Amino acid sequence: MTGRLAGKTALITGASRGIGRAIAEAYAAEGASLVLTATSLESLAAISDVLSNDGIESHCIAADLSDESEIDRLFQQCLELVGHLDILVNNAGIYQGKQFEEYTREEFHRLMKVNVYAVFQLTQLAVTHMKTMGQGKVVNISSTAGLWESPNQAAYNTTKHAVIGMSKSVAMETTAYGININAICPGMVETDMFQDFEVHARAAGISLDELRKHASAKLPQGRFLNPEEVAHIAVYLGSHESDGMTGQTITLSGSMRMV
Ligand SMILES: NC(=O)c1ccc[n+]([C@@H]2O[C@H](COP(=O)([O-])OP(=O)(O)OC[C@H]3O[C@@H](n4cnc5c(N)ncnc54)[C@H](OP(=O)(O)O)[C@@H]3O)[C@@H](O)[C@H]2O)c1
Repeated sequence: MTGRLAGKTALITGASRGIGRAIAEAYAAEGASLVLTATSLESLAAISDVLSNDGIESHCIAADLSDESEIDRLFQQCLELVGHLDILVNNAGIYQGKQFEEYTREEFHRLMKVNVYAVFQLTQLAVTHMKTMGQGKVVNISSTAGLWESPNQAAYNTTKHAVIGMSKSVAMETTAYGININAICPGMVETDMFQDFEVHARAAGISLDELRKHASAKLPQGRFLNPEEVAHIAVYLGSHESDGMTGQTITLSGSMRMV
């Protein structure tokens, strides 16, 4: 690693596991000072221990991103801990799949709260702060579900499309202030989130493992992505190397489609 994020502070949501944890490890390796958040300090203990065993100090804050007041508190505490914020990574997200007519309004609201409202609110807080610094980076984790149609996950796809629309529009308004905001659209990534695909496995009359095998076999590369592959792009988007890029979506589909 070459210290591409040395001297930078970063707030990473959903940092306890999966893609967020891989981003936290990659950012730490590139020299960033980290504020990590997830629903509980217990869920953050593993990543925090790994970093501290490597001699890297990180700050952990528990916050439920489905609660607006928790988001305000999270951002305030983050600034108190590190003084200023250079990079916000909006990674936390939840998945729920079912046939369109079967989603309850509560389920749709919850998906919207965590996957969209929280991203909107945190980005608003971060951009307001970054404008005073004349620089900053926002990295949003959307999904190929934010670009394309896919069956039995209309509510999730709605949230991921929203993140891309938001990223582009905010990018337009903030580029003159030295702020870059971009989105990453991963395809299938090997994380705990796949457990939530149980509903699709059941509908197909197969086990979750069988569904994983079928899904992998359908991909030209024959495998899911690993979280580290997403983290490499998040490092680029958090670093000065991407200063010329804003309002863009980088698709890492694992060869699902060539667009
Ligand atoms: N896995 C994929 O195939 C895939 C593909 C494309 C895009 N994505 C997107 O990538 C992002 C990360 O996904 P992942 O697969 O790494 O997921 P994951 O392994 O399920 O991890 C989700 C993370 O979000 C946090 N989180 C969930 N609900 C929260 C809430 N209400 N408040 C605060 N934090 C909350 C979790 O914290 P706790 O540990 O405390 O629960 C955890 O850190 C998501 O936005 C997802 O939509 C995933």
